[in-house]
Amino acid sequence: GLRKKKVNVLCLGLDNSGKTTIINQLKPSNTQAQEIVPTIGFNIEKFKSSSLSFTVFDMSGQSRYRSLWEHYYKESNAIIFVIDSSDKLRMVVAKEELDTLLNHEDIRNKKIPVLFFANKMDLRDALSSVKVSQMLCLENIKDKPWHICASNAIKGEGLQEGLDWLQDQIT
Ligand code: GTP
Ligand code: MG
Repeated sequence: GLRKKKVNVLCLGLDNSGKTTIINQLKPSNTQAQEIVPTIGFNIEKFKSSSLSFTVFDMSGQSRYRSLWEHYYKESNAIIFVIDSSDKLRMVVAKEELDTLLNHEDIRNKKIPVLFFANKMDLRDALSSVKVSQMLCLENIKDKPWHICASNAIKGEGLQEGLDWLQDQIT
């Protein structure tokens, strides 16, 4: 059959934002984990969309592991950045990590798409995706295509919309 184009996706964001839960939902149901545990270091996951074959580097968001992120910038074709929309206290930390990412020499001059998930939208005190976007100053990103989706990773809501956008950017 037709070979799908291979893309490397880097999944970033603070610990507990829902990265692993999101990636798990995107995998075929027969390969999904039943239980999600905090990621140590990183995990590599693979899944396919209609036209692409994804290899996802699901990084740990714990501060002690964030120094690992930059080693994968060069080889990545897209970034998924996950935010816990209910974690207002750490929104500024998420912004700091995002700014550090966007200013990194291996990312700065690369026109790779960045997909944001404003995750945990099911929680009562979750901020809207518009509000998350404002707090992270996403409108300042001029040199890369970006998109933000509200998501509920537990139910899988909002994830396909995001993946469709990403696929459109790459193909
Ligand atoms: P690290 O691996 O430590 O960086 O965390 P992570 O970003 O991979 O988060 P993980 O997927 O492990 O999820 C953390 C917790 O948030 C788990 O208890 C998930 O069940 C929960 N969670 C993830 N997504 C959602 C969501 O959309 N809504 C709610 N209510 N909980 C969520
Ligand atoms: Mg994880």
